[in-house]
Amino acid sequence: MSISIRPLHPVLGGEVDGINLRRPLSPEDVAAIEAGMDKYAVLVFHGQDITDNEQTAFSRNFGDLERPDSVSNITKDKDRRLGPDLADISNLTKDNKVYGSADRQRLFNLGNMLWHSDSSFRVVPAKYSLLSGRVVPETGGNTEFADMRAAYDSLDDDMKAQIEDLVCEHSLLFSRGSLGFDELSAQEKAGFRPARQRLVRTHPVTERKSLYLSAHAGTIIGWQTPEARILLRELTEQATQREFVYSHKWQQFDLVMWDNRQVMHRARRYNDTSDVRDMRRTTVAGEAPTVEQAA
Ligand code: OGA
Ligand code: MN
Repeated sequence: MSISIRPLHPVLGGEVDGINLRRPLSPEDVAAIEAGMDKYAVLVFHGQDITDNEQTAFSRNFGDLERPDSVSNITKDKDRRLGPDLADISNLTKDNKVYGSADRQRLFNLGNMLWHSDSSFRVVPAKYSLLSGRVVPETGGNTEFADMRAAYDSLDDDMKAQIEDLVCEHSLLFSRGSLGFDELSAQEKAGFRPARQRLVRTHPVTERKSLYLSAHAGTIIGWQTPEARILLRELTEQATQREFVYSHKWQQFDLVMWDNRQVMHRARRYNDTSDVRDMRRTTVAGEAPTVEQAA
């Protein structure tokens, strides 16, 4: 059986059929998925009851994996529930209990409910993210995706000219700070040192331009901070209008894969202190920085 992809939404997102992610992929399968990613930016695979190792093996078809570390989270190694290649997007402690309402890790994780692009705070930001829904809540907890190509296309020429060469600083300090989560140790702050990213980027294959926005973006180089944040908010509002957004309602064993260079995403609220949501993410590293800078 060969791969087929059906559009899920007028501007982004496709549903993939004819593939079993537990098995090794042929080069043709990999090429078909990459072409689907370039076109749809988000791909949904249903009914993929995979192990962590199978998820990791599937993800490696698309490049080297990013590892969650002290640059990307506040989790201490001894508290990690999953292996080194998986980001834990669940609401579970190492003992598989839901976090208490005041748990620091819970409050940090709530930042995923802000529109963002994964690892935009890294000098080389993420290419693809692959999120596997192992246990999903009955209500709430959708993941939404906003098409940053459509967002860019919708800007008028004056705005396009104004932002073409702008560079932003991205950091977890900005996204978490915007939620009032700012009690960080000196070591955490040092890990969250900002990285610079172009505000407009061009896809290496399709050559389409997109807005590179994220809740992690907090300043624009050469601008006053309040002025920068007003522009970033205005662009984010424009970019996340409903017609550019696909909202994914999870079924158990869905795997959703997205291109962080072309979409922003966010989690929606759910009863995270009572319902279990066990999501595991592998992340394919990007190939290069978006601007020249010291690593
Ligand atoms: C992520 C993320 C959103 C969600 O995995 O990077 O932001 O719905 N997830 O859990
Ligand atoms: Mn994310």
